Amino acid sequence: MPQPLPTLCGSIMGSPFSLSAKIHNAAYAALGLDYTFVCFGIEDPVAGVAAIRTLGVRGMNVSMPYKTVVMEHLDAIDESALVIGAVNTINNVDGVLTGYNTDYLGAVRALQEVCELNKQRVAVIGAGGAARAVVYGCLQAAARVTVFNRSSERGKVLSSDLGAHWGGGVETFAAQDFDIVINATSVGFKQPDSNPLDGLLASHLIVMDVAFMPVRTALLLQAAELGCRTVSGTRMLVHQACRQIELYTGMEAPIDIMEQAMLEEIQRLNL
Ligand SMILES: NC(=O)c1ccc[n+]([C@@H]2O[C@H](COP(=O)([O-])OP(=O)(O)OC[C@H]3O[C@@H](n4cnc5c(N)ncnc54)[C@H](OP(=O)(O)O)[C@@H]3O)[C@@H](O)[C@H]2O)c1
Repeated sequence: MPQPLPTLCGSIMGSPFSLSAKIHNAAYAALGLDYTFVCFGIEDPVAGVAAIRTLGVRGMNVSMPYKTVVMEHLDAIDESALVIGAVNTINNVDGVLTGYNTDYLGAVRALQEVCELNKQRVAVIGAGGAARAVVYGCLQAAARVTVFNRSSERGKVLSSDLGAHWGGGVETFAAQDFDIVINATSVGFKQPDSNPLDGLLASHLIVMDVAFMPVRTALLLQAAELGCRTVSGTRMLVHQACRQIELYTGMEAPIDIMEQAMLEEIQRLNL
């Protein structure tokens, strides 16, 4: 396979976004590696995958809206990414491109920092790509998962695909039936005033938000006010990036340095 100097990693997405580059480049510097990470906003994801092969890109993150469309152009797909139906990480080992989903691991590692998941009653709000990863991860960790979503059709498909319970619209969520609730919708992302569970929380819940900008979303602020334990979307984001670093470098990820770089960049972006 071609060998660029320095070793090149990157991300492909609809519009370029600086956050992954800051997190990954901070990790490579801390690990003393001659790696560089570049963010590519692209229109043709199939050509993007071909470019990985042509240029010898070592690892490529995949963001919206290309997480599904790239799959059929890879050489292998990890079992978890296959079940979730989305690839957010392409690992290029000697020219063989394997697709992974690190979002589910990020969610599980972030949650397990504050609680056990085994037999916990988990409500997941949402039925898009992030929700699929979160539901898969929680089921893998032996939680009992119920899905709520605005569109019932999408929610039912996710629930039956992955083996979760279908709960209905978010207005039917009842706090007393759950130990953990996770917002996996796009509500709250870059929307500091939007809370998809406004008025529906109770103090016994552990509350997680996948939205990572702002760091303290309206949901997490309300949860903290009630005395709930909270898990931020930034913690999920940094954990999923750690798995990418492990895949691309074979080394243990320097999580504290990555988290600091991420938080500084979010602050610079003023969200
Ligand atoms: N922290 C992390 O590491 C991480 C990783 C991946 C993604 N994310 C975040 O996860 C979020 C979701 O991403 P995605 O890829 O799953 O998006 P997606 O596939 O477009 O799904 C969006 C979900 O949000 C729901 N939704 C959107 N607007 C809504 C509204 N006004 N009211 C109620 N529900 C609404 C949709 O419901 P319908 O089905 O009814 O349309 C759907 O369930 C994004 O903010 C993304 O940044 C975070």
